[in-house]
Amino acid sequence: MQRDIFLAGAGQTRFGEHWDKSLRDLMNEAIDAAITSSPCTALDIDMIVIGNMLGEIGSDQAHLGSLTSALLPHRPPAIRVESACASGSLALHTACAFLESGRAKTVLVVGAEKMTDVSADVIAEALMGAADAEEDRPAGLTFPGIFGLIASRYMYEYGLKRDDLSIVSAVHHARAKENPYAQFRSEISPEAVSRSTLVADPLRLLDCSPISDGAAACILSTQHQSDIRIAASQIAVDTLSLVHRPSITSFSATKDAAEKALQEAKIKLSEIRFLETHDCFSIAALINVEDLGFADPGHGISVYRRLFERKNDAPVLVNESGGLKGCGHPVAATGIKQIIDIAKVLRRDGERFGMAHNFGGAAATCGVHILEHSHA
Ligand code: COA
Repeated sequence: MQRDIFLAGAGQTRFGEHWDKSLRDLMNEAIDAAITSSPCTALDIDMIVIGNMLGEIGSDQAHLGSLTSALLPHRPPAIRVESACASGSLALHTACAFLESGRAKTVLVVGAEKMTDVSADVIAEALMGAADAEEDRPAGLTFPGIFGLIASRYMYEYGLKRDDLSIVSAVHHARAKENPYAQFRSEISPEAVSRSTLVADPLRLLDCSPISDGAAACILSTQHQSDIRIAASQIAVDTLSLVHRPSITSFSATKDAAEKALQEAKIKLSEIRFLETHDCFSIAALINVEDLGFADPGHGISVYRRLFERKNDAPVLVNESGGLKGCGHPVAATGIKQIIDIAKVLRRDGERFGMAHNFGGAAATCGVHILEHSHA
C-alpha cells in the first residue's frame, strides 16, 4: 500500500428476501449505517465506488453511479464496477487505487444486489453471465452445475465422501446462527445436508448459497483514521471457462491474489487468524482453504472437521459470520460484507490480521484483502 488506508466506517442490511425494499432502499440503509458508524459526515465523502452485477436484470436499473451519488446531499463523483460475485472486492480495490493515488481522501464503497424480484430461473440465467457465454452456456450449465462438476472431480481425485462434504454447510449454518444479519439463522446437521434435495449432482440444496437481496457499505479513508487498516488489496484473474484450465480442483486466481496480498502486507500466512472465504457452494470452501495454503490439496476437509468440533487447533477460523451459505449471497454485496465481518472479529478477539477472499464466476476473478487491527 502506498498510503495508510483506514476502515473509517461500515454498515450493512440484513441479507435475505426483502420484498418491501428496492435496490435503492437497500443501498440507502447500508450507506446510512456506514456513515453513522464513522467519524465522518456525508460531506466528507469525495468519491463513491459501487459494485453491482444484476441491476439491469433484477431491478431494470443501470447507471448506478449516478443513482448512488444522489443518495448523498452533495452528489460526489461515483463509478460502478462489475466482476460478477467479485464485484464487491473489485469496488474495494478500485477505491484503494483512488486513495493510494491521492485523487480521493475518503471513499464510500458500496456493494448491492436485488435478486428476488424476478424468478429464480431468470436469476440463474443472469448469473451465467459470470461464465463464458460461448463455451459454458451452450452446454446447459448453471452455476450449481459448474460447481457440481468441480465437486465430482474433486471427489474422484481425493476420495472425499458425500457425507464429509456435508460438514462444510453445517459449520457455516452454526456460525450464522449468531449473526443478526444472516439469511439463515438455523443450525443444520451434516445429515440434513446429505438428505436435502438434489440440485446438481453431487451438490444438494444445503450445499448452495441462496439467492438473496442485500447491501453493504464501508468508508475507506486516508484522512479519518481508525483501528483497522487495509494492509493489502489484490485482484487476480483466470480464464472465464473451466475448459481452458489444467485443473478444476484448484483455482489459480485465488493463489495469485493471496500470494500478492501476503507480500503486500509483508506477513506470513500463519499470522492470519480469521478468514472470510467465498463458499458459494460447499466444495468451493474446501478448495479455497487449500488454495490459500491452510491445507494441502485434498485435505481442506480436515480444517472443516476441526471447525465443526470447535477445536482450537484449526489453522485459521473460517467464516465466523456464517459465510455465503449462512448469510446469503447478494452477489456484489458479499465482498464488502466480508470486510465488515473480518473487522468485527479482529476487534472482538483482539487479533491482528484477517483475510477476506471473494471470487466471481468459477474464481475467474478473485479479490483478496488483508485487514490489520492496530490494537491487537
Ligand atoms: N440454502 C438453504 N435453504 C434454501 C436455499 C439455500 N441455498 N435456497 C432455498 N432455500 C429454501 C428456501 O428458503 C425455501 O424454504 P421455504 O420453503 O421454507 O420457504 C426452500 O428452500 C425452497 O426454496 P426455492 O426458492 O424454491 O429454491 P430454488 O429451488 O428455487 O433454489 C437453489 C435453490 C439452490 C437452486 C438456488 O438457491 C441457487 O441457485 N443457489 C445458487 C445461487 C448461485 O449460483 N449464486 C452464484 C454463485 S457463483
